[in-house]
Amino acid sequence: MKKKLLAIALGTTLVFAVGACGKKEDSKSSNQSASTDSAEQIYKKSCAGCHANDLSGATGPDLRTVGGKYDAADIEKIIEKGRGMMSPGIIQGEDAKKVSEWLAEHK
Ligand code: HEC
Repeated sequence: MKKKLLAIALGTTLVFAVGACGKKEDSKSSNQSASTDSAEQIYKKSCAGCHANDLSGATGPDLRTVGGKYDAADIEKIIEKGRGMMSPGIIQGEDAKKVSEWLAEHK
């Protein structure tokens, strides 16, 4: 009788422990997903090395007025295909879309 109770108690503890663990990993993976970063954060990570944090340009051209030259769809294409020294597909999908829209606002 005592043994049975212990087994039940242990079993319950185990289920709780596993449940808590699963939850923790879920929130961790959603934190790591790129889509939670803002366009500016993505830009700073992937583009600022060549275009500078303030968009003023370095190895790459000044992007401060790039929105006057291209719309978001054009910029997305430039990111996808690359240009000159800039390799194609540095960022992709949602990230590329977000950064393109953000850059297109700089007119
Ligand atoms: C390795 C350096 C490098 C990185 C990293 C880089 N670029 Fe560039 N980028 C360049 C260079 C160089 C050019 C000019 C290419 C040419 O016209 O020959 C350019 C051109 C551009 C242009 C066109 C500008 C214009 O006036 O025609 C856009 C838009 C652009 N980059 C956006 C980005 C974005 C967004 C990222 C990040 C996802 C990025 N770049 C990352 C080097 C870089």
